[in-house]
Amino acid sequence: MCGIFGYFGPKKNATEIVIDGLKKLEYRGYDSWGVAYKTKDDIKIHRQIGKIGEAHLVVEDVEDIEESIAIGHSRWATHGGVTQANAHPHTTENREIVLAHNGIIENYLELKEVLVQKGHIFTSETDSEVLAHLIEEEMKNDNFLSATKKALHQVEGRYAALVISKKENKIIASRRGSPLIIGIGEDGERFIASDIPAFLKHTKKVQYLDDNELVVIDAQATTFYNLETDEKVEKRIIEIEWTEESAEKGDFKHFMLKEIMEQKETLYRAINQDAGLIEQVADAIKNAFGTYLIGCGTAGKVCMTAEYMFSSIAKKHVNTAFGSEFPNYHHFLTNKSLVIAVSQSGETADTLEALEIAKAKGAKIISIVNVETSTMARMSDIVIPIKAGPEKAVASTKATTSQLAILMLVAYAAADRLYEGKEILVSAAGQINDMLNPRYEEHIQQLAEKIQHAESMYIIGRASNYPMALESAIKLQEVSYIHAEGFAGGELKHGPIALISQGTPCIVLVGADETRKAILSNAMEIRARGGYIIGVSPQKEEVFDYWIRVPDCETASPIVNIIPVQILAYQLALLRKNDPDMPRNLAKSVTVK
Ligand code: F6R
Repeated sequence: MCGIFGYFGPKKNATEIVIDGLKKLEYRGYDSWGVAYKTKDDIKIHRQIGKIGEAHLVVEDVEDIEESIAIGHSRWATHGGVTQANAHPHTTENREIVLAHNGIIENYLELKEVLVQKGHIFTSETDSEVLAHLIEEEMKNDNFLSATKKALHQVEGRYAALVISKKENKIIASRRGSPLIIGIGEDGERFIASDIPAFLKHTKKVQYLDDNELVVIDAQATTFYNLETDEKVEKRIIEIEWTEESAEKGDFKHFMLKEIMEQKETLYRAINQDAGLIEQVADAIKNAFGTYLIGCGTAGKVCMTAEYMFSSIAKKHVNTAFGSEFPNYHHFLTNKSLVIAVSQSGETADTLEALEIAKAKGAKIISIVNVETSTMARMSDIVIPIKAGPEKAVASTKATTSQLAILMLVAYAAADRLYEGKEILVSAAGQINDMLNPRYEEHIQQLAEKIQHAESMYIIGRASNYPMALESAIKLQEVSYIHAEGFAGGELKHGPIALISQGTPCIVLVGADETRKAILSNAMEIRARGGYIIGVSPQKEEVFDYWIRVPDCETASPIVNIIPVQILAYQLALLRKNDPDMPRNLAKSVTVK
């Protein structure tokens, strides 16, 4: 959560470059934004609430500077409301240093108390401002670098921070638990950001900052330090594969629609994995004493779906838990346990915490991630990249189906039937390619128009389509803001059916398996109580009031069934005048616990 971006280099339009970078990071938080840039003997700060939109800034006093230095921040509020005072970058009463921070400083209240006693005056309610004052306090006896190191040693929690000083021409940055990547440009230019797409138009050469490391970017060099040992660290420059276009909207109005449509190709990319890697993960599951699939939100629903797949395809039990709940299972973990993290970003704090706990117990760690160079990937024994390309819309779509495809392959590999699984998935990918055409979108648009004013919606499924009913609810909630809930079809009669009244839209995800008859009976029960039945199914059924056809893809049914619901959620968002890419109260990468 929160995006940060810094620029060091010869170009005079550093602020423009930072604002442009922040626009690409807005998916990480869009409550407020701000930039700070260096002039010859001062630092100017501009902060404002709301989305960055088409912002341009008139900068002053930068003509006679040697190196341009600017930092910026796009905020997802945690400590303190959405106000200009709480927007970053933060500074102190003496304005010696200016800082942009992502993460949570857990001991900020204790630190603040001491700093206030020493005469520091705070102007925001944020935890972040504490770090600015702390560095400045240390600078009373030390230079900028040592003071920053000393201050960072005192903070508890997670952070990615960019700091600049009035007196020195450098950016100091450090991370613990929140991402920060350095882009190496031409002519001494360096970019530093929460995510690669933010500087992809400038360079594809990157250096990764690891946890508990600090980097100094100045005219001479990019110097990395291990904060614990204070020794210098050598870093490789890595050339990344993503293209600038893959991180842009192109002809699409929104990233969400672009990413839904990209599922025509992303599934093929996921399926065409290194078979050896899939077998390796399947073997690890076979050999482990207890496998846990961990994810949050949509990724958590992917894990739940995979639990059914492992059961039916590989006759193998795997456990699933949400990242935030996993710490409650630590009693069962040993060095023979296997923990598989599923994540688009690879930076979700709750999932990372689960992995840290598992690692401390000696468990083997595997991650299935989209961002191959993420923290999760780097702390794993084995990584399966899902290769979906940048996912920018807050609502996950293409990463979801790619994760499902990979876990399905692993389930088939665990049953020694990898080839069969691949055939089913290749056929599903081909049929999804045909399905995603303008007529299909129009058909779903007509449904969206019919139900756009609904107060509540319910989604039901059975077996592997039950977690997809839960996932459907997430998609509908987050972008349409309609109250939506998913249920296991068989559970309705135990309580939730009381919620159905005349005309309540209910989506029925029909599996291409032996659960078909039972879920149709559940649909009948809803219809008998006045519910409006929307069937997502390979064939038209008597009970449907509205039918959305999906191909019959056998065990890949959860993958095809979720796609029309993604489209429906998108269409509803547009009809209800919501921004599907940046829904209210949310952020793409949840790097706070
Ligand atoms: C919903 C959504 C979130 C994420 C969750 C985990 O559409 O995208 O629920 O799935 O925040 O994020 P990752 O996959 O990055 O760990």
